[in-house]
Amino acid sequence: MQIRSLPESPSPRTALEAAEGIFFESSSKKTFSGEEERLRFRERYFGVYAERDPEWFLLAHDGNGSVLGYLAGAPVTREEHLALNPYLEGFRREMTLYPAHLHINFSPEARGLGLGSLLISEFERRLKSHSIPGVHLVTGVTERNVGFYNKNGYLEASRIRVGSTELLLLGKRL
Ligand SMILES: CC(C)(COP(=O)(O)OP(=O)(O)OC[C@H]1O[C@@H](n2cnc3c(N)ncnc32)[C@H](O)[C@@H]1OP(=O)(O)O)[C@@H](O)C(=O)NCCC(=O)NCCS
Repeated sequence: MQIRSLPESPSPRTALEAAEGIFFESSSKKTFSGEEERLRFRERYFGVYAERDPEWFLLAHDGNGSVLGYLAGAPVTREEHLALNPYLEGFRREMTLYPAHLHINFSPEARGLGLGSLLISEFERRLKSHSIPGVHLVTGVTERNVGFYNKNGYLEASRIRVGSTELLLLGKRL
């Protein structure tokens, strides 16, 4: 597996389209009231990263150049991220200890092979080289991926209830 950021990719547009397919396939939200809602959803969890932090948008390719998975991250969580996800206000205090954040998804065939751990390690390596002291992510208490994050050193720092869902902020100091 090779890891490249969007600007390092030989064909960024094609790579981004493949990653977008993985994003929608991996999302638990499958239906939208219309195109506007679909685009807002894309912007919130995918587009804002590709557009505003392309060097932190990492793509995992196989030997043929096919995209297996991606990590969309930000080295510092900014007001624009909080504005897109108002529920993050409940986690504002944790942003100082863990300023960076990430979203990661692999295509179904590429899951369970240990590739996600390699991609997260590369993101952390790049963060450390920029002296970023910590990173976090948000997931649901009942999600299967909690075990994946725990084994990679992301531990519960806080939890909040949003409607009927309990959300976890998992953090790792670098
Ligand atoms: C979560 C994910 C990025 C992990 O990458 P990976 O390369 O599959 O992970 P690894 O092989 O290193 O580790 C295996 C662990 O990943 C997680 N995992 C594997 N397949 C998964 C799936 N279909 N859905 C959710 N988590 C999965 C599990 O925690 C698994 O451990 P388990 O088998 O003991 O339950 C990847 O499985 C994935 O894209 N899952 C679906 C989407 C998702 O949950 N994204 C994170 C949103 S916050």
